[in-house]
Amino acid sequence: MVIATNPVGRLGVVGWPVAHSRSPLIHGHWLAEHGLPGRYELLPTAPDDLGDLVAALRSGEFIGCNITVPHKVNVAALLRVGDELQASAQAIGAVNTLVALPNARLRAINTDALGYLHNLQQTSPHWRAESGPATVLGAGGAARAVVFALAEASSPELRIANRSIDKAQQLCTQMAAQFPATRFVAIGWDQREAALLDAQLLVNTTDLGMLGQAPLDINLSPLPDTCVVSDIVYAPLITPLLKAAKSRGLHTSDGLGMLLHQASAAFEAWFGIRPTVSEALRAKVEATLTV
Ligand code: ATR
Repeated sequence: MVIATNPVGRLGVVGWPVAHSRSPLIHGHWLAEHGLPGRYELLPTAPDDLGDLVAALRSGEFIGCNITVPHKVNVAALLRVGDELQASAQAIGAVNTLVALPNARLRAINTDALGYLHNLQQTSPHWRAESGPATVLGAGGAARAVVFALAEASSPELRIANRSIDKAQQLCTQMAAQFPATRFVAIGWDQREAALLDAQLLVNTTDLGMLGQAPLDINLSPLPDTCVVSDIVYAPLITPLLKAAKSRGLHTSDGLGMLLHQASAAFEAWFGIRPTVSEALRAKVEATLTV
């Protein structure tokens, strides 16, 4: 257990801005539940100060931290010989968790992919990646983690629809090199509804539907009745997409679940204990969402 090397037990989330983060609430809940003496803080860090923060981790000031926007991609450049970069984090091209190791070394991992999959498995136990194509809306950082998770779970076909088609094509090419058994198809944004035919999973990874953003404009009628619809947006909890899916009678999976499950995998990386994503914790975090 890594905590033994750090008497203070400091942890935190590194981002800019970071005030909105629910991570202190989530990790604080688990620290108390497991009787661990850690303290999880907001660590607002401007891009120019990221190097100092990483140095503080190496000096043993922290057990570890979460990394969020805008540092998820850039933090890898601060790793050095002797550090550990998880193969999946490298493939996704983003790091969301650092673990301080002995001798000023760091372990850099990505728990977003696992978090997405664990949530889907918990909320939709009947869903099987192998059962059919999945359509992913978006090709940004979050999409990379979701696409990686689905390909690793043996999805036969991944259709990536994005406003900028070149980004979807790039993601398809990169992932195809690693997952030869999966068919990757880049889809133009205007063709997104055609990409719903036969899909067994639809996931929104764009910002659309988030509070303050335009809703996602998509007609779900081409989806088969067996399709699961998931959204990684969690504010609001029931996005317009999930609302439309529910009113069609489709099974849905929300973004709060992914947030909680990626946090659970990070906690396990620091403490060697996989904490439970309980209904009580979900309700606690849900109460902080404005809608
Ligand atoms: P994140 O790390 O949250 O995935 P990101 O990397 O900025 O954030 O990606 C945002 C995604 O939302 C992208 O796929 C983006 O499409 P582009 O690649 O074309 O920019 C998508 N997105 C954002 N606003 C959008 C809009 N108004 N219509 C369609 N897609 C949008």
